[in-house]
Amino acid sequence: MEKVKNKLTPFMFLIAAIAATAGLLFGYDTGVISGAILFITKAFHLTHTVEEFVVSVVLLGAVFGAATSGSVADSLGRRLTILITSILFAIGSIGCASAHNVHLLIAYRFVIGYAIGVASYTAPLYISEISPPHIRGGLVSMNQLMITVGIFLSYIIDYSFSNTEGWRWMLVIGVVPACILFIGMLFLPETPRWLLSRKKNDKASSILKKILNKDNVEPEVEEITASFAKKEGSWKDLFAPWMRPALIVGFMLAFLQQFTGINTVIYYAPTIFQFAGFETAQVAILATAGVGLVNMGMTVVAIWLLDKVGRKPLLYVGMAGMTLSLGVLGLAFKFTALSGALKWIAVGSLVVYVASFAISLGPIFWLMIAEIYPLHIRGRAMSLATLSCWLFNMMVSSTFLTLIDKLGKSGTFWLYAIVAGLGIIFCYFYVPETKGHTLEEIEEHLRSRKHLGHLGVKEL
Ligand code: BGC
Repeated sequence: MEKVKNKLTPFMFLIAAIAATAGLLFGYDTGVISGAILFITKAFHLTHTVEEFVVSVVLLGAVFGAATSGSVADSLGRRLTILITSILFAIGSIGCASAHNVHLLIAYRFVIGYAIGVASYTAPLYISEISPPHIRGGLVSMNQLMITVGIFLSYIIDYSFSNTEGWRWMLVIGVVPACILFIGMLFLPETPRWLLSRKKNDKASSILKKILNKDNVEPEVEEITASFAKKEGSWKDLFAPWMRPALIVGFMLAFLQQFTGINTVIYYAPTIFQFAGFETAQVAILATAGVGLVNMGMTVVAIWLLDKVGRKPLLYVGMAGMTLSLGVLGLAFKFTALSGALKWIAVGSLVVYVASFAISLGPIFWLMIAEIYPLHIRGRAMSLATLSCWLFNMMVSSTFLTLIDKLGKSGTFWLYAIVAGLGIIFCYFYVPETKGHTLEEIEEHLRSRKHLGHLGVKEL
């Protein structure tokens, strides 16, 4: 097929921006509880265990959402799945904000979690299938950017409503992006790839023409049609031997994204800053907002670089940065002689850590799982990788404080550092370079049983 370098058109930008509102909901609804929980606990006189459950039931919902929706995304289509999810987000937010007892609150938090589980992969899936190959990395990663924006906004909103103890306001604000997503998606097209898989060729061609900005899209239509003509989509295909390398890459990237500790920082940053000697909660919260800003800023850098330098170099640099900064953070907690400087070393290493995550495992996990699976089972395969990501997230965030008790602070951060360091070796051998390849070329490589980790490496 002729190789054209695609430029970002306003049409493509708009499509990606609207779909990425799902990422904003993901970030906002996972982040907002950290501030709201203080007042919820007070209002409903919660015990410690119930309080923890109100926080973590969102993760449980996300696990269910990711686990049960893969075949829905494949059969109903990507667009309709996102539309339904936006309604769930709205119901969940209104329900939480108006809950008059803790049972209702937990039920609606589960609904929100469910929606997050579905949205977390259907938005990257949608953007990936509708993007031209040469700008796909940046466009899909707009979703990750919106996750970081959502987390940051949730800190600000929590802070603004904290003096009036307005937890209901904090929770209901999620309705606004949910409505934007719903209304926006009403106007967006279904992805050409899904349409072609349903034999809606005319519609698919007209969308491809707009996206690729050219009149003759026959070669693309043929290439996409050929890719799914080979197999029916079933759960059995998902576990076929030729699919295994792609399943392993998705599973391992999910493991690395979570077991290098990102959510201990996102959820517990104020606690870590207090361990390091910042006395007042307010300063600790301010430092946390700083971490949120760095996360956002560096995701913009990732968007800019992903389609220029490729996915693998960013993984190496980012994961090396994560290994080093976690190592230094561990050292700082080990040597009490450093205690005066400790708080600044803690801030410095957390900033480097988050920046390194934001240019590597943050966006690249979601991007890669939207690229490496074959069209006919893409929804199911992504839902499986996403399910592992949410399970790992639950495992890491629920063991962080216990690990600190058992291994000490240094031991805990070093453990995450070791995972990040070993992860670089995995990425070197097994993760493909998908930069510039069409989804169909990636699929063809996988089907031909060539080593997945060799795709695109010679071009680096
Ligand atoms: C991860 C989340 C994390 C967020 C932080 C996402 O890619 O999946 O677990 O909280 O990045 O920016």
